[in-house]
Amino acid sequence: MSSDLLDRIRVSGDVPRHVAVIMDGNGRWARARGLPRHRGHREGMKAVREAIEGAVEAGVEILTLFAFSTENWQRPAQEVSALMSLLQLYARKEREELRRKGVAVHVLGELDRVDPRTRRAVDTIVEGTSGGTALRLNLMISYGGREEILRSARELARRVTEGRLAPEDIDERVFAETLFTAGLPDPDLLVRTSGEHRLSNFLLWQLAYTELHISPVLWPDFTREDLFEAILDYQRRERRFGRVSAH
Ligand code: FPP
Repeated sequence: MSSDLLDRIRVSGDVPRHVAVIMDGNGRWARARGLPRHRGHREGMKAVREAIEGAVEAGVEILTLFAFSTENWQRPAQEVSALMSLLQLYARKEREELRRKGVAVHVLGELDRVDPRTRRAVDTIVEGTSGGTALRLNLMISYGGREEILRSARELARRVTEGRLAPEDIDERVFAETLFTAGLPDPDLLVRTSGEHRLSNFLLWQLAYTELHISPVLWPDFTREDLFEAILDYQRRERRFGRVSAH
């Protein structure tokens, strides 16, 4: 089944270079089973592994996962702390395997807000996997799209005030270079699970022309086959970037 979908991907056209994912539905997955929410997040870790392995198999270059939003800081302290512990566990358990697979992990977001223990854990996974060439994995932690844009605006204003930049030189390229995703191509495909049709403050600048794929699957149930289906859906689209069709 999995290799059949991969064969179809190979003959269907370009594979998206950069896939971003809003991993949604952990809470609902847990509630449906009468389990506490943190069990849903824990189960979500398996789906993270599936998405990474699927991305490598399909030939995706960059996978960007929304692991913790700036809004998530407002969840009950117990859930925030469960999510931070899970990130620590993930960093400890998966580092070696990710290194072996050639996955280079990057962690992007307002990391000053993250507690020192989690910060150290994510630093070790970033250092331990640096140089991997099979896939670049961006874990977005303490990330919010509007905050990212404000941060860029502040940085550019600072450069202007200090006389290092002229306002008329601020163009899309200069702006994009101040974002967390500096140097990366914009996502070609955004996958959101659990059937919600929202961006939820994710990569607001970068998603301008991205194709969206909404999957009904709750994140803990997400498998590599679901990623392959999303890629096939992407390959059926005609990307126009605001222009007219060539035909
Ligand atoms: C959304 O589900 C998911 C999150 C807030 C956290 C995502 C975290 C993981 C998938 C865990 C592991 C990740 C890594 C990188 C180790 P929700 O709680 O909003 O679900 P609901 O909408 O059903 O309540």
